[in-house]
Amino acid sequence: MRRFRQKYYDLFSKVYDRFVALHASDKQGVLRDILAEQTGAEPGDRVLDICTGTGAALRPLAGRVGAKGLVVGLDFSSGMLAAAREKTRGYGQVCLVQADCGRLPFKSGVFSAVTCSHAFYELKGATQVNTLDEIKRCLKPGKSFLMMEHEVPENRLVRLLFHIRLMSMGRERALQILKHEAGFLKQHFRQVRKAAVVTGKSKIYICT
Ligand SMILES: C[S@@+](CC[C@H](N)C(=O)[O-])C[C@H]1O[C@@H](n2cnc3c(N)ncnc32)[C@H](O)[C@@H]1O
Repeated sequence: MRRFRQKYYDLFSKVYDRFVALHASDKQGVLRDILAEQTGAEPGDRVLDICTGTGAALRPLAGRVGAKGLVVGLDFSSGMLAAAREKTRGYGQVCLVQADCGRLPFKSGVFSAVTCSHAFYELKGATQVNTLDEIKRCLKPGKSFLMMEHEVPENRLVRLLFHIRLMSMGRERALQILKHEAGFLKQHFRQVRKAAVVTGKSKIYICT
């Protein structure tokens, strides 16, 4: 099943950037800039972006940590990582890792921030809880996990495409997460704050 999902994402990587720009009303790509800014990451910091996909968040994060910092983009799809590699060519502080986010191959307490954009609701079964446990393990004490998610689209066509995609990943469960994620995250973090996002089509939760 995991292999099937990896293949699905390998194929999806070919059209992913155009799809998500339409869905999130983010043709200029400002959403990932906002996400990077909200991390509060500083020069020299280490930041992890899980389910990095085509790596849309990596360049803005690299801009924050500077040449002496480190940004790790993690994903289990080789297709997505190939696209991320193209996007981050020349960024020496960016490193790409192929792994499952439910088992992070990092030491404990090493990252100043962990981000995840437009992906958490797509994680299957126990992977969601395992991923949150792993994120908490890998964060430095007092540092935050930032989760950016879609609002359910209002535009009919985009909503139809969105629901078709959700079917491939367990529609009911994915919708539950998209609608009630604050409550879910509060079961795992002491503090969960929602940050405003200018496009109105996405939301960011900052969890500490
Ligand atoms: C919808 S894309 C989001 C990509 C990117 N974060 C963005 O904001 O555009 C979801 C990504 O999660 C990855 N993914 C899904 N399940 C995963 C898992 N268990 N471990 C690692 N990556 C996973 C997929 O390969 C895909 O690249």
